Amino acid sequence: MSKPKVLSTRPLFPEARAILDQNFQTDYWTPPERTSRADLLKRAADKDGLVCLLTEKVNDELLDAAPKLRIAATVSVGYDNVDVPACTRHRVVATNTPGVLDDTTADFAWTLIMAIARRLLEGDAWIRSGTWPGWDLDQLVGGDVWDKTLGIIGFGRIGRGVARRAGGFNMRILYSDAVRAPAEAEQELHAQFVDRDTLFREADFISLHVPLMPETHHLICAENLEKMKRTAYLVNTSRGPVVDEAALAQALENKKIAGAALDVFENEPKVHPALLPRKDVILTPHIASASLETRTKMAVMAANNLVAFFEGRRPPNALNADALGLK
Ligand SMILES: NC(=O)c1ccc[n+]([C@@H]2O[C@H](COP(=O)([O-])OP(=O)(O)OC[C@H]3O[C@@H](n4cnc5c(N)ncnc54)[C@H](O)[C@@H]3O)[C@@H](O)[C@H]2O)c1
Repeated sequence: MSKPKVLSTRPLFPEARAILDQNFQTDYWTPPERTSRADLLKRAADKDGLVCLLTEKVNDELLDAAPKLRIAATVSVGYDNVDVPACTRHRVVATNTPGVLDDTTADFAWTLIMAIARRLLEGDAWIRSGTWPGWDLDQLVGGDVWDKTLGIIGFGRIGRGVARRAGGFNMRILYSDAVRAPAEAEQELHAQFVDRDTLFREADFISLHVPLMPETHHLICAENLEKMKRTAYLVNTSRGPVVDEAALAQALENKKIAGAALDVFENEPKVHPALLPRKDVILTPHIASASLETRTKMAVMAANNLVAFFEGRRPPNALNADALGLK
């Protein structure tokens, strides 16, 4: 029997490729630039499975163009690129990669917290410019992190990982979430559940860890930025559209908050032009989960979901298993 045909929109990593190559007839998109939509639709037309990235939208258009498709595996935990109800309507299993990137992403949120508070990039740029005159008492004085209040919005896997790391900095931890965490998790992480307004008013650092959905779109808006302390910092390693970039740029310009560190953007790869020249902003290119180990695990997880499906098992990370009645 011929092997199922799979399209992978990236060459992935050797460990994941080995799994796909052993089980499927896989067509890899290899050029350095991302595949065009037209090419993606064309290549997907005869495929039984898809491994894609968060840059590819899996929606009715793609599902209509790929009538044989049975499973679409995004190599990301966030799946705002996948229209799950549309997949269900087309009887396509959708999978993501939860859990394997929690610590790496939480580490990176902390990288940004420390870097923005302690003006790391400003210092680096100053030295490289050749104009640093040597040590002085009031040079690049930033804000302390230790002993401050950390506000976490979205207290799921990654949000809790960020809280866990705050223990070493003796921080007070506030969190808000659509669902309150179990008492054991609150106790273990010394985290206090508060309403969002309290978090905006009291936190010195706000770190975002919600999925992108209609309810979280522009959660950081002018009105909420207004509630924050003038000395507070915003860190976003969730999804770009959670923050209204224009409102953020305005709040920074008006000194409503002290700074922001962003790993994700509203219209990637574009960044709001008013943010680009600002010294009180750190911009990183969506790399919060980008360690070799973790990105490899994500790709392997996606590949294993395909293997499970085509072996007749329930893919471990199926997002619509119940809707499709998978056993
Ligand atoms: N920058 C990156 O490279 C990167 C890496 C990993 C994850 N992410 C993003 O981080 C997000 C979180 O990942 P996770 O694995 O921790 O997810 P998770 O599902 O474990 O946690 C998300 C939390 O957000 C809460 N939530 C959902 N809707 C909410 C709302 N309207 N208001 C308040 N809270 C709400 C959920 O109850 C949950 O506790 C992902 O969806 C993804 O978009 C980004």
